[in-house]
Amino acid sequence: MDKGLFITIEGTDGSGKTTQIKLMESFLKGKGCEVVLTREPGGTVISEKIRALILDPAGTEMGSVTEMLLYASARAQLVAEVIKPAVLCGKIVICDRFVDSSYVYQGFGRGMDLKVIADINRVALDGIAPDVTFFFDVSPEIALKRRTAATGTDRIENEKMDFHMRVYAGYKKLVLMYPERIKAIDGSRSVEEVFKQVAGHLELLVE
Ligand code: TMP
Repeated sequence: MDKGLFITIEGTDGSGKTTQIKLMESFLKGKGCEVVLTREPGGTVISEKIRALILDPAGTEMGSVTEMLLYASARAQLVAEVIKPAVLCGKIVICDRFVDSSYVYQGFGRGMDLKVIADINRVALDGIAPDVTFFFDVSPEIALKRRTAATGTDRIENEKMDFHMRVYAGYKKLVLMYPERIKAIDGSRSVEEVFKQVAGHLELLVE
């Protein structure tokens, strides 16, 4: 059987990823594709437990290294249990966040060495890499408004605005570094207009 497709979704907190992922799923299913939806951190029983630990608002004393390693651990389990098997048997995997999130949040956001993050994650990724990544580009100010409108925030969302600004700037750098793989989508428009941009790319991918 042909290898499937591994699509990752990135953006700052409040960039509207979740709504667009659901639309992507129904669009691809409508084209007859087998789609597996998953998320990071999470997506397996073990990874969801790690997620709860990382995002617990009470865990304010968690160090950057601990945090980065926990994200990588959750990722290793998800890759082995879900992503790799699904892609190898021809399915389309859509993953809400992946290793780019570690580069921007732990790297650009927390100031950790990008090479160290890459080295650790090389083990977690076990040779897998996204075929395409959609980055939902929404300014930190608009994203903050959307987050404030939502109920309940986690430990990372509770970070100060300058952290979210560094994360956003980090995403912009990644887009320039990987122009072939990362498709920047203007996420500030209406749900329909944003999805129109996404669907244009999806059409080409599944043609
Ligand atoms: P979510 O709210 O999009 O589910 O993501 C959970 C939070 O975890 C979000 O604030 C981004 C953060 N995160 C990292 O800091 N590093 C990572 O490697 C991943 C996957 C997420």
